[in-house]
Amino acid sequence: MKRSSIKKYKPFQPINLKDRQWPNRQLTKAPIWCSVDLRDGNQALPVPMNIAQKVELFKQLVAIGFKEIEVGFPSASDTEFNFLRKLVDDELIPDDVTVQVLVQAREPLIRRTFESLSGVKKAIVHLYNSTSALQRRITFNNASKEDIKQIAVNGTKLIKSLLNEVPDTEITFQYSPESFSDTEEDYAVAVCEAVMDNWGPTPDHKMILNLPSTVEWNLPNTYADQVEWFCRTIKNRDSVIVCLHTHNDRGTGTAATELGLLAGADRVEGTLFGNGERTGNLDLTTVALNLNSHGIQTGLDFSNIEEVKRVYEKTTGMNVHQRHPYAGELVFTAFSGSHQDAIKKGMDLRSDADVKWAVPYLTIDPVDIGRSYEAIIRINSQSGKGGVAYILKREFDYDLPKKMHPEVGLYINGLADQYGRELSFQEIQSEFQKEFVNRKDIINLKRYHIKKMTEEEVHSIVTLSYKGEDMELEGKGNGPINSVVYAMKQQGWKDFDLEQYRSHSIGNSSASISISYIQISLKSDPTIKYWGCGEHTSIRRSGVNALISAYNRAQILMNK
Ligand code: KIV
Ligand code: ZN
Repeated sequence: MKRSSIKKYKPFQPINLKDRQWPNRQLTKAPIWCSVDLRDGNQALPVPMNIAQKVELFKQLVAIGFKEIEVGFPSASDTEFNFLRKLVDDELIPDDVTVQVLVQAREPLIRRTFESLSGVKKAIVHLYNSTSALQRRITFNNASKEDIKQIAVNGTKLIKSLLNEVPDTEITFQYSPESFSDTEEDYAVAVCEAVMDNWGPTPDHKMILNLPSTVEWNLPNTYADQVEWFCRTIKNRDSVIVCLHTHNDRGTGTAATELGLLAGADRVEGTLFGNGERTGNLDLTTVALNLNSHGIQTGLDFSNIEEVKRVYEKTTGMNVHQRHPYAGELVFTAFSGSHQDAIKKGMDLRSDADVKWAVPYLTIDPVDIGRSYEAIIRINSQSGKGGVAYILKREFDYDLPKKMHPEVGLYINGLADQYGRELSFQEIQSEFQKEFVNRKDIINLKRYHIKKMTEEEVHSIVTLSYKGEDMELEGKGNGPINSVVYAMKQQGWKDFDLEQYRSHSIGNSSASISISYIQISLKSDPTIKYWGCGEHTSIRRSGVNALISAYNRAQILMNK
């Protein structure tokens, strides 16, 4: 922001709630959820959903487990009206789902809303009007507090009088003092109590009082104070369901809702992935999965979040950001080497699904929301040795010796750095093979066979070309690899020592391939080691291939 603009803005005042209880509380159960995804007019999609898209999204919301779904603002447009009619006519509303309809406190709109409800079994009629000083002054032309309260009361009375128009519909009433978080607290309570006086809720027939943070002007702790004060002050608390409706203008809609729940609210309104006007409504997906991650059942099923995301993106035309909590493409991906190592260790240690989740850097097990481990470790220039070895093992069955991880990791990460991008698993495998496996660039091993073998000694013959010249060498040793080392040294290629060897097989016994890893050092500088890898159907030949690969790499790298 421009320095000179700062003086335009004023600090927002916290509320003076000295004995606040919410900071010491813990969330132990889920709220009642209400999805407002289908409030198209207010959710401000650049291209509004048509009826078919709304039906598809409605079905998805039902499948997730929402029992209260706002189906729109039927008096606002024909699409919204006809959408509710379609749900009724096609019997798409399950018996245990209550649909919610939104309406401003204006007579023609309320009457039209009741027309849309015919045939609905259970509905929440949601009435709202703005109550903040800012709205009273600007939107309502300096209307008095009494005038604004009267708008709410008149709307309530009208709704009550229209109940007999839909005798077969079980109606719950909801009232929102819109812009509650920017309204004087005592005035918000006065308006809500006037509404209650005219509706007459009881503990058996509660009404919903919704406390919107219509525009998020303030910090989440202030909203929590407002909610706690409201819950403590409102009369007949046991006759009302207190509901939160936060927006995300300051990026803290989730925090405000979570603190508001600590402060005593019972119900929450929001949308999938936080869609909604401006920066969006509360992201219900995040709040529900946050609760799950603390071991709390929510009644909402996000076990296939990819499918939810697919339907959401298809119907709304919006995109879920790659960093979006839980659902973003990259959120279960570690690029950094130290993180990859820690995740791998954490995953390897998990043997029992009943043991509480504790894996570094992952708040939940991705599998629990239908995401796979595959995306967890990907390779770019920031990745570590462990990450490359992990991919080679998981995707291609190469079980590299631990001491080989740094050399392979450095090599592959260096390539990612050079290309300036992430490497695919296939590229990692092919680059690993080119650099480490069955190298032929100095010594090209053509044939290896055993001339004679006793319990103590192997006598080998090696046919090769060296820098283009064909030759046949013979060597003896206590095993095939040592016999080839011997043959090489006889030939004058003496400047190396064998340091480490390991092998394993890949595939089932009938078609298995043997993989060997050999590390050598050069006599000229024994501190520097070189790894090579051999692959062959014969274990002996794969060992010899690994030796030649290590030797070839050493010669090439030494002369670089
Ligand atoms: O944010 C808001 O105040 C609203 C009202 C209509 C409840 O969406
Ligand atoms: Zn809203």
